[in-house]
Amino acid sequence: MRWDPARYLRFGEERSRPFADLLSRVPPVEEAEAPGASPLVVDLGCGPGNDTPVLRRFFPGARIEAVDSSRQMVEAARASAPGPDVEYVRAEVRQWLADRRAAGGEAPRAIVSNAMFQWVEDHLELMPELADLVAPGGSFAVQVPANFEAPSHALLRELAARPEYARHVTEPLRAASVRAEDYLRALARPGWSVDAWETTYLHVLQGPDPVFEWISGTGARPVLGALPEAERERFAEEYKARLRRAYPVSEAGTVLPFRRAFAVATRI
Ligand SMILES: C[S@@+](CC[C@H](N)C(=O)[O-])C[C@H]1O[C@@H](n2cnc3c(N)ncnc32)[C@H](O)[C@@H]1O
Repeated sequence: MRWDPARYLRFGEERSRPFADLLSRVPPVEEAEAPGASPLVVDLGCGPGNDTPVLRRFFPGARIEAVDSSRQMVEAARASAPGPDVEYVRAEVRQWLADRRAAGGEAPRAIVSNAMFQWVEDHLELMPELADLVAPGGSFAVQVPANFEAPSHALLRELAARPEYARHVTEPLRAASVRAEDYLRALARPGWSVDAWETTYLHVLQGPDPVFEWISGTGARPVLGALPEAERERFAEEYKARLRRAYPVSEAGTVLPFRRAFAVATRI
């Protein structure tokens, strides 16, 4: 599945905000803990590099390993946020875990991930395995969209189920969100403390069909990418009309409520 970094970054600020909110709950690395050392921080699903400056702000002096399975995203990240402190790695997260286990090496001080796990099957089972890689005192911190029941996604599924579209869309579309409570249960084990919560952001979007613009850069890609051009154009027009009704323009702009689940598991 192809990603389009430029389209994704049209709402870069809104997409990075929850990452900063997530990192604000990660216990900071104390200088006394490792004087002069530069801790290793891993960013899973780093995307086009918008996370890297945020990570630098929260972990000054850290070395960053930024991992993503998309060639387009890794190339965009290398171009937009380069530096001697960051290594961009193209890898699928399960493969990355297997490679890291095989190679051993330094335990990360933090493993963080902003808006990747919703794309990963059975990620509740995978998360504790990834968390186990962090060093003592370190954290595993994730933000995962929990908006699959929202009108934006319900309308996408409804329209994609129509026979003229459904015959092209082979990938199942996720219908239910994993909730913060589920992440809490999956990560709360002996020797760990877990902080989990949910937030609904009210993104105020401007311009024509802004909810379509937003979702065509992320959640709608499996449908839009699967349709032949003529069907894709027809689908886009029908979807936009439904989204306009579900998300009317107000004086402030078009308000997109967006629920997200957060969890920070810290090894104690
Ligand atoms: C919605 S973007 C999030 C990008 C960035 N973290 C941010 O905060 O804006 C999701 C990213 O996860 C990556 N991704 C999806 N599934 C993945 C997987 N199984 N392994 C590694 N990366 C994956 C995608 O390529 C994409 O760049």
